[in-house]
Amino acid sequence: MDRDSKKRIYKAHIIYTKEKNRFEVLENAYVAVDADGRVAGVSSEPALLDDGNTEVVDFGDCLLIPAMNDLHVHASQYRNQGVAMDLELLPWLQNYTFPEEMKYADMDYAERMYRRFVHDLWRVGTMRSCVFATIHTESTRVLMHLFREAGMGALVGKVGMNSNCPEGLSESVEKMMQGYEALIEEFNKPDALVRPIVTPRFIPSCTPEMLRACGELAAKYQLPVQSHLSENKDEIALVQSLEPGSSCYGDAYNHYGLFGQTPTVMAHCVFTEGEELALMKRNGVMVAHCPTSNLNVTTGIAPIRQFFEEGLRVGLGSDISGGHDLSIFRVMVYAIQMSKLHYQRNRERRFLALSEAFWMATKSAGSFFGRVGSFEPGYEFDALVINDSDLNHDNYSLLERLERYIYLGDDRQIEKRFCRGMEISEP
Ligand code: GUN
Ligand code: FE
Repeated sequence: MDRDSKKRIYKAHIIYTKEKNRFEVLENAYVAVDADGRVAGVSSEPALLDDGNTEVVDFGDCLLIPAMNDLHVHASQYRNQGVAMDLELLPWLQNYTFPEEMKYADMDYAERMYRRFVHDLWRVGTMRSCVFATIHTESTRVLMHLFREAGMGALVGKVGMNSNCPEGLSESVEKMMQGYEALIEEFNKPDALVRPIVTPRFIPSCTPEMLRACGELAAKYQLPVQSHLSENKDEIALVQSLEPGSSCYGDAYNHYGLFGQTPTVMAHCVFTEGEELALMKRNGVMVAHCPTSNLNVTTGIAPIRQFFEEGLRVGLGSDISGGHDLSIFRVMVYAIQMSKLHYQRNRERRFLALSEAFWMATKSAGSFFGRVGSFEPGYEFDALVINDSDLNHDNYSLLERLERYIYLGDDRQIEKRFCRGMEISEP
């Protein structure tokens, strides 16, 4: 993406979260964005942001909010979105998910599906994502190019798998390393919006040699790591039988240098407690909370309030296709509703507030990508302009308008999208 290196000032009703307990709300306010795409400041007075020479782009009565971040999504399961919801995790993987991912050996198929996936992420306002591709290096490369062409940020994982899976979805450790080396050579540049992330699928899919090689890759190139953790009881029992020396599922990753030795995000953590929780906290491992997936694949309710109390970092993930909805706005609603189910059973821990869901989707998840997800000075300007005039017809406050958009809105109200200061056009 070319940058025309000009400072810009945008005017709108600005809403964001610096901290999880409250929104920052600025009516008819201004945000200044430097030539490098970072926020210079937010103010109700343009004179405080500029010497008067910068053109102000006025978005009128629109809301201006940080863009969405998806901390866990499988691009290679996009075809299965909204189908195959009748099995629990392990048979679901074997019967529906692995057969679909095998198709990504076919480059035409991969390009067609990945194009649709990147387009639809754009559509729902997600400007950064942590993505699982498949074992296939060439189609993973295509996906990374599609993100790069679009100008959208992504950490993209070629998936490591060589155990408990069909032959067509298994790759030797040697080939896995070669594939990663090629992707790292091409994409692992400082400050790049699209970068590789080390992605062992989960412990049951990987032999100890595969896990060790993944840990070595992460250390050698200082790459981030993503995987799945404590999603389902059968899965946890299987991990315990495969790694009998580990004190918990997380400890098995830790043994291979895949648990916070470099920045790490683990999806689900539905059953994370005790020692595993303490280890995540100690190692700074981030949680990708995926409520839609946890409902569909009937895993359980992750204890997000407790994670907050313990100081764990938590963001939201759509987890397509365990999850059925790509919109992180919709995932926010499910996260709140699910926490209410939890609260009805156990009133000791309060359900999630709207500001907490919004913060998880923006500033908290964004922290995995750098200074992303807020409009504080120095943050990369990732933003959505929301024109909610069709939803806003009865004198709602600005926060009520945001709440209605989160609960009722969709891509029709997203008028503009920005990633790192650049307006992102439809890919
Ligand atoms: N665990 C291992 N692979 C997967 C996957 O593709 N989806 C989900 N939800 N859990 C997994
Ligand atoms: Fe997943």
